[in-house]
Amino acid sequence: MLEILLTVPLGIISLLLLLLLFSRRRREGEPPLIKGWIPFLGKALEFRNDSYKFLQQLQKCHGDVFTVLIAGKYMTFVMNPLLYPAVIKQGKQLDFHKFSDAAASTTFGFPAVNTGKFPGLSDKIQRSFLLLQGSALNTLTLKMIGNLQLVLQQDFLSSNAVGRKCDWRQEDLYEFCERVMFEATFLTLYGRPPQTKMDVHTQLHRESWIDALLDNFRKFDAIFPLLIAKIPIVLLGRIKSIREQLIRFFHPHRMAEWTNPSEFIQARTELLNQYDTLQDLDKSAHHFAILWASVGNTVPACFWCLYHLLSSPKAFSVVREEIMGMFGEKEPETMTMRQDRLTREQLEKLIYLESAINESLRLSSVSMNIRVVQEDFCLRLNSRCSVYVRKGDLVTLYPQSTHLDPEIYPDPQQYQFDRFVENGKMKTEFYKGNQKVHYYHMPFGSGATMCPGRFFALNELKLFFCITLLMCDMQLTAGQQHATMDKSRAGLGIMPPANHISFRYRVKKCLQRQGL
Ligand code: HEM
Repeated sequence: MLEILLTVPLGIISLLLLLLLFSRRRREGEPPLIKGWIPFLGKALEFRNDSYKFLQQLQKCHGDVFTVLIAGKYMTFVMNPLLYPAVIKQGKQLDFHKFSDAAASTTFGFPAVNTGKFPGLSDKIQRSFLLLQGSALNTLTLKMIGNLQLVLQQDFLSSNAVGRKCDWRQEDLYEFCERVMFEATFLTLYGRPPQTKMDVHTQLHRESWIDALLDNFRKFDAIFPLLIAKIPIVLLGRIKSIREQLIRFFHPHRMAEWTNPSEFIQARTELLNQYDTLQDLDKSAHHFAILWASVGNTVPACFWCLYHLLSSPKAFSVVREEIMGMFGEKEPETMTMRQDRLTREQLEKLIYLESAINESLRLSSVSMNIRVVQEDFCLRLNSRCSVYVRKGDLVTLYPQSTHLDPEIYPDPQQYQFDRFVENGKMKTEFYKGNQKVHYYHMPFGSGATMCPGRFFALNELKLFFCITLLMCDMQLTAGQQHATMDKSRAGLGIMPPANHISFRYRVKKCLQRQGL
């Protein structure tokens, strides 16, 4: 018995020693290497706890470029935004899509796109993203106006929802943003499933499908960081079956019955149908991935924008005035948003609102830009700084360090709604020391992998604020703690809040008189 008790720990210790002995060492010309003492995991736990603090400390000790072992991957972080252009423009030896393609396929459950089994699919998918821009974006934006109003009225502002219309109603702020944005975005992109007719009898039915979808989505999203970290889904309890339900929701037979899908989703359906090598459920998984991409970040972004606006009376009043001014009337009686009254140019002119949104994204975004090194080579970052990197390593930009750099954004932890406005225009020039910073605001990534939905996302957020500020009075509930960020989602877009924030709202008096 004693023998067994001794053999197991001794075996583990010998294995650790062997791993340490044969583990990677820094070569001449490579960035400083930080491996930690736990083989494979390396510094994964410190990174996960508070990536910003962890990387700031490493930057202080090792300078602007260093390599860290995180969960089996050697990640070379480039921390100075003045060095970013060299990485972003380096297309040949730093692959943009390899990392995200592999992560998306394991996370959402479709076969990897770039395996040779689906010739041309990757390019076709990239081309489909053009339908989130230009004239297709105008159509999406107009649909979104209608759907936002519909969801708000049905779920939050109708007398069924609020009781007497003049009453204040209390809600969780995140849930409010989530329910409105999730359903309105879904209807805008995918269209309307057949059971969602708008009459009293089917109201219950309607609520049940969207509520079930949202409920599964929340559970999946909570585990999302583990899936991206390649933890096998079989180890994650019920998530496998929840993901299956989410994928099945988008089965081609079901989607064929949905009315008024966007051009973007129709084009994707057609291009997926060109591949016999894709099973029906593979196609469904692609559609499910787009659902995550379209709401996974937009919902927390919406929360932070609304939270900051409600926390800052000056910001709230300037943004509200701007919106009222844009729609032309002195009295808000006639100001419920009509689709035909809103143009793209008008949305672009809402610069204080755009600045307030940008500022919230600056404070809450923790996305990383990851490139896979294609061969051992010397990465020249500027005239004075070059580093050797190895094939298979990840070169990573960490924009949060730029977003919170006091040289670029004085008082960086403070929310300043008008930080991105200068002389009545959007401010686009930011400096570090006396050097202009090209990549100063990167919640949507950079270069070739930049989020293709960014224009739609910005329009959605602007519309959400135009419509809610026109239709409702809103206040944060007094006496609660400030919202804090859930830092465990390091590297994955917009951080959700870590605590509950409640607010109260009611239909505006003038709209009550109109009988909304
Ligand atoms: C505030 C909201 C949003 C944020 C912060 C955001 C951010 C991002 C980021 C950081 C990436 C990865 C970029 C990279 O790898 O460098 C990304 C990818 C992507 N986003 Fe967004 N996004 C948002 C909303 C949307 C919306 C509304 C859509 C609409 C469909 C969308 C569709 C996509 C897609 C399809 C990709 C993957 C692109 C590819 O595979 O090349 N996103 N997003």
